[in-house]
Amino acid sequence: MTIRKIARMGHPVLAGVAEPVENPRDPEIQRLIADMFETMDDARGAGISAPQVHESLRVVVFSVGGERMTDDDEDTPLSHQVLINPEIEPLGNEVEVGWEGCLSVPGMIGAVPRHRRIRYSGLDETGATVERTVSGFHARVVQHECDHLDGILYPMRMPDMSRFGFVEEMSRAADAESADELQEAAE
Ligand code: NI
Repeated sequence: MTIRKIARMGHPVLAGVAEPVENPRDPEIQRLIADMFETMDDARGAGISAPQVHESLRVVVFSVGGERMTDDDEDTPLSHQVLINPEIEPLGNEVEVGWEGCLSVPGMIGAVPRHRRIRYSGLDETGATVERTVSGFHARVVQHECDHLDGILYPMRMPDMSRFGFVEEMSRAADAESADELQEAAE
């Protein structure tokens, strides 16, 4: 496994629409997935998409960490998930605004509206179908990572750019409890 270089906002690989994966069991895809996990863990990210490691393919990996979870029953901890060729269907009209960071926008965070509840499907690393109905942080991380496959970075989803800034500055200005929340969101 290898830690790969992460593309930052402005690099063209982040702006394109990624290609579907034909065979999840292809050894090159298996290597890509292993490298994405290693890169994500090294950078202490909650998720990463293939375009962020310079591969324009429809692959994302993520974890739902206990510390970011909401109280929702459909938001449960899950470690090291793979989604290949994912599809997302929003359920209901509820939108929640929450803090997000991105390994391709290092040092910064922003308040981003996302569908509170979604159904998603895709393939896992064995080629088996995954289908889940999720809410809260789980729904947020999947929406964030899948956006990368269509060239969308979270600042492009923000209606209020006054809530976008350097995590260091914003957590200094916040009270202690929300400063912790901002630091966690940056990962
Ligand atoms: Ni990201």
